[in-house]
Amino acid sequence: MKKALSEATPYSFFVKGAPIAIVVCYDIDTGRRFKEDASICAEHIHLEAVNQGLASCFVQVADATGDHGNAEDYVKQLLEIPDRYRVQCMMPIGYPDEVLPEHTDDEFDRSKIHIEKF
Ligand SMILES: Cc1cc2nc3c(=O)[nH]c(=O)nc-3n(C[C@H](O)[C@H](O)[C@H](O)COP(=O)(O)O)c2cc1C
Repeated sequence: MKKALSEATPYSFFVKGAPIAIVVCYDIDTGRRFKEDASICAEHIHLEAVNQGLASCFVQVADATGDHGNAEDYVKQLLEIPDRYRVQCMMPIGYPDEVLPEHTDDEFDRSKIHIEKF
């Protein structure tokens, strides 16, 4: 299944190598903020993975396409997800292959901070 999921888009190939992948779904019958709520959920998954010494990566599914066409339709078909659910993304979780250096203060662009007025 992970191999099939990894074919959803050109940017999901590494899903097959992760020990697990959580597919973030949203019931549009009970909620009205699909993208916002599902993205917050995904971010919490990411933060807790990092908190536990693991790694994850937001892998776009909604509004994405790949060799199998519409990525969301493809993932829903694979996992037999009912119609009333949208699929925002996949969150593969595993042990990091590499630990990237932290961002430095030099990269901080103060001109992007606007106080009181834009
Ligand atoms: C909306 C959104 C969709 C993303 N989709 C993918 C994806 O499909 N595949 C992927 O490898 N990374 C995806 N990413 C993760 C980015 O590639 C990147 O790792 C993340 O934004 C952190 O970047 P930075 O630490 O270099 O600033 C996505 C990120 C966002 C915010």
